[in-house]
Amino acid sequence: MCGIVGYIGKEEALPVLINGLKALEYRGYDSAGVAILVDGEIKVKKSVGQVKVLEKDLEHEKFLGHLGIGHTRWATHGAPTESNAHPHTDCSGRISVVHNGIIENYKELKKYLETAGHKFTSETDTEVVPHLIENFLKQGNNFDTALIDTLKMVKGAYALAIIDRDNPETLYATKLSSPLVVGAGVGENFLASDPSALIGKTKKVIYLKDGEIAKINSRDIRVINLEKEVSPFEIIQLEWNLEQAQKGDYPHFMLKEIFEGPEVVRATFRGRVRSSKNLVKLGGLEQVRERLKEVKRIIILACGTSYYAGLIGEYLFEEITKLPTEVHFASEFRYRDEPFDEGTAVIVISQSGETADTLAVLEKAKKQDLLTLGIVNTVGSTIARETDAGVYNHAGPEIGVASTKAFLSQLTVLIMMAIYLSKDKSSTKVILKELEDIPAKIEKILAQSDNIKKLAEKCRGYDNFLFLGRRYNYPVALEGALKLKEISYIHAEGYGAGEMKHGPIAMISEDFPTMAIIPQNSVSDKMLSNIEEIKARKGPVFVIATEGDERSASLANEVIYVPKTLEPFEPLLTIVPLQLFAYYVGTNKGFDVDKPRNLAKSVTVE
Ligand code: AGP
Ligand code: GLU
Repeated sequence: MCGIVGYIGKEEALPVLINGLKALEYRGYDSAGVAILVDGEIKVKKSVGQVKVLEKDLEHEKFLGHLGIGHTRWATHGAPTESNAHPHTDCSGRISVVHNGIIENYKELKKYLETAGHKFTSETDTEVVPHLIENFLKQGNNFDTALIDTLKMVKGAYALAIIDRDNPETLYATKLSSPLVVGAGVGENFLASDPSALIGKTKKVIYLKDGEIAKINSRDIRVINLEKEVSPFEIIQLEWNLEQAQKGDYPHFMLKEIFEGPEVVRATFRGRVRSSKNLVKLGGLEQVRERLKEVKRIIILACGTSYYAGLIGEYLFEEITKLPTEVHFASEFRYRDEPFDEGTAVIVISQSGETADTLAVLEKAKKQDLLTLGIVNTVGSTIARETDAGVYNHAGPEIGVASTKAFLSQLTVLIMMAIYLSKDKSSTKVILKELEDIPAKIEKILAQSDNIKKLAEKCRGYDNFLFLGRRYNYPVALEGALKLKEISYIHAEGYGAGEMKHGPIAMISEDFPTMAIIPQNSVSDKMLSNIEEIKARKGPVFVIATEGDERSASLANEVIYVPKTLEPFEPLLTIVPLQLFAYYVGTNKGFDVDKPRNLAKSVTVE
């Protein structure tokens, strides 16, 4: 994610940029910066931390100018430092760029540019853009051509705002996959990652399309495509308040983030998976590649939803890498006297990268000189910095307290790590091909959201819920129960279905419903027997089943279907209806599902 703003017009650019960035901070907030054309030169200021830190750092600076760009960062490549903060410039300081997205081929482009004599000052992927433009300008091209040739070389996702010292009347913008809107004012025009930064400035916006370049001056807006042909655009009138704009068309961040699931899975494996070549590239593990070859045992440590992702990782690692794997709650493991051997690798999973218990076990593992790996969403967070190596989720900021899209991203990383660590690559090509098909399968489930909403309606009045699953779907039962608990405050328990007869079945009655996760797989017959036992005791049963599986439907009070997939991928699909179910039950109760009572997004206390 991250937030981009741009301004050209009659007002001073700086306050417009700062206020715009503040409205976009929900998109990323680890560092921020601005670039403004001041007396014919581009002046740049960058700060680590939130926009207010940048604002304070600028208090005594003279940044007076009418053309500028700004950025609030959610780091993907390079920790949140001042040098990695945006904007980034070329060698001469003529061009300044802010970027949202990932330039997948930045390493080869950087190598090519360094060979051509360009000097880089950051670790980011973004910095290749201004240097590429500079390189094409040096070949005698005009700015439009230099920018177009640059865009034709980069691979990945980008929303770019650019200013050029030698084109002082023009603000440039272009996008591919990442969002970018142009705001049309009177005697002034704006750029932003989303309309929330334009509230109070203009209600007229132009949503740039992929492959378009906007050339914006204070009086008019021109849009061309990569062939320099004029591209027609529509000005849309917005009627949004700030909070609404940040959530887009969604009433809550939680729902928005559930619906971001398909794109988050894509963003997690983008640039890391080549199914055609049976290849997984995890740059963050390269520096420990030799040590990984000596790993004989894996211990996964985490809390909450991240722990449940780890339980799925246990099945994945054992099945795909054949390495003995165990998972523990960080809050428990930190007090255990576990015998370690040197072939043990510890994987910590944390969306925030700041969870106190997880950090504590990481320190414990490091004291034993174990190899420590992180699966973290927040770049530059403490856990990310303290591990020997790791893989970032690239899921973007998760605002809702209940973790949804980050869970899908964690599962995606675990699958990629299992393949990366596996010595036997014979079955991995099939797995990687299925991984690439998962986003579309999640979209099919999301299209059923009305059915899931109806199911939540039918479940009004229940005060308890049992969630059942086996194998890969046992942790899904646990996570589904956690979602319902933390969003609707209903008591819910996740259980391995095989354990139900050892006690929990005593709770079953017509007032005690069960959510059973029964995709068609190696244990579905056993699951169906469990459902028969529940039905025999008049317990209502709602089932998550594979499309076309009539057996489950014949037993269930209600059934929600998910597409067929390989067993290791089932959690990526079966959790989605449960996330939506919890969301609709919670909103039916009128609760603030983005900020549930008693909870915090990052549990930095023990
Ligand atoms: C998830 O919905 C919860 N909010 C919570 O269990 C969370 O997963 C847990 O606190 C771990 O957080 P982390 O992933 O940031 O370490
Ligand atoms: N990939 C760029 C960086 O890491 C932009 C990240 C973003 O979109 O926030 O700086």
